[in-house]
Amino acid sequence: MSPVAGGDTESDIIVSVVGARPHFIKAFPFIKAMASSPARVLTLHTGQHYDRNMSELFFKELDMPAPDIDLGVGSGTHAEQTAAVIVGVERALLKIRPRAVVVYGDTNSTLGATLAATKLDFPVVHIEAGVRCANREMPEEINRTLIDHAADHLICRSALAVADLWSEGITRGVMNAGDFMYDTVLFAQAVAKEKDIRLDSYDVESGRFILSTVHREFSTASVGALVDLLDALGGLGEPVILPLHPRTKARLLTAGISLERSDDLRILEPLGYLELVFLLGHARMVATDSGGLQEEAYWAGVPCVTLMSETTWPETIEAGWNVLVGLDPAAIREAVASDLGGGERPEVYGAPGAARRVVEPLGWE
Ligand code: UD1
Repeated sequence: MSPVAGGDTESDIIVSVVGARPHFIKAFPFIKAMASSPARVLTLHTGQHYDRNMSELFFKELDMPAPDIDLGVGSGTHAEQTAAVIVGVERALLKIRPRAVVVYGDTNSTLGATLAATKLDFPVVHIEAGVRCANREMPEEINRTLIDHAADHLICRSALAVADLWSEGITRGVMNAGDFMYDTVLFAQAVAKEKDIRLDSYDVESGRFILSTVHREFSTASVGALVDLLDALGGLGEPVILPLHPRTKARLLTAGISLERSDDLRILEPLGYLELVFLLGHARMVATDSGGLQEEAYWAGVPCVTLMSETTWPETIEAGWNVLVGLDPAAIREAVASDLGGGERPEVYGAPGAARRVVEPLGWE
């Protein structure tokens, strides 16, 4: 890969655009890797996630500098949110005139920032490029496809992601660096060990509970299906810890659905990263529709039941640590009772140090 030139090459500023929970986790190793670089990282927060537990807490726990700019975009329809990010990022980039812009993942913030930056001719580096699940009904699939076709540097986490880009004719600027999140998980595991986080405060025993998250648009589209899912989780015969995303909570409360569903279903506020990683380390299994948690479970050696009909992490399924069950209660019960996992976990997402492997070829070391 050739060093990133373009934008204002005189500038020593790299703009790192974050906005939603998974971005903070991916930006952490990048900021660390850039600590000794002569270039300066300026963090632009779109404000897509704004609740304390969804944003500020992550900066605090990961000891990351507070964002330099906060656009305060907030919630809205896809068009409203993406449009507000485009306008806000464009305005900021015109003032800053950075050397390059780094974006992460597949959210509306990532797409908006990519569109604003590429049209102004600032080089865009896309972290977690080439991720596909072949479901065009997912807003994230539309986002990631468009982002990859616009971005200049495509940083992939696996050989499969590289192959998927090639199959779409994207071959320039592609690099397989491994997954950025790996370092964040290792950091959080180490810090969580030092903290006084107690399992008994969750009223569960190590290896005897399931950690669950539910937030996707399709998981929350039907209140009836969502209630069936919660009741399936609450009726598994073992405790389920469910930190609830604000979208899911709002959907239930607006429909007048009680969150008190069964003694075994422990519904909590969204957790910080340290607590989540701590609980993951003690969970018997994970049941989730989150992309990131599927991978975090794989690294932690915890079998994962994915509440979706497709995944962006097929490598974890091939390795025998993940299974797709959708939202069907019977399939969930069967998967949770199965002997999923336990075999080898090949390092399909690379060794730790992915962010460091990117900084040098980009010419930012
Ligand atoms: C977004 C990403 C998704 C990612 C997820 C991580 C898109 C299209 N989706 O989904 O890929 O997995 O972030 O969490 O960008 N809300 C709050 N407070 C907040 C944030 C959200 O109350 O701090 C509520 C609002 O009602 C909002 C809803 O959650 O309308 C959805 O939030 P949004 O950021 O639009 O999408 P996510 O579901 O978080």
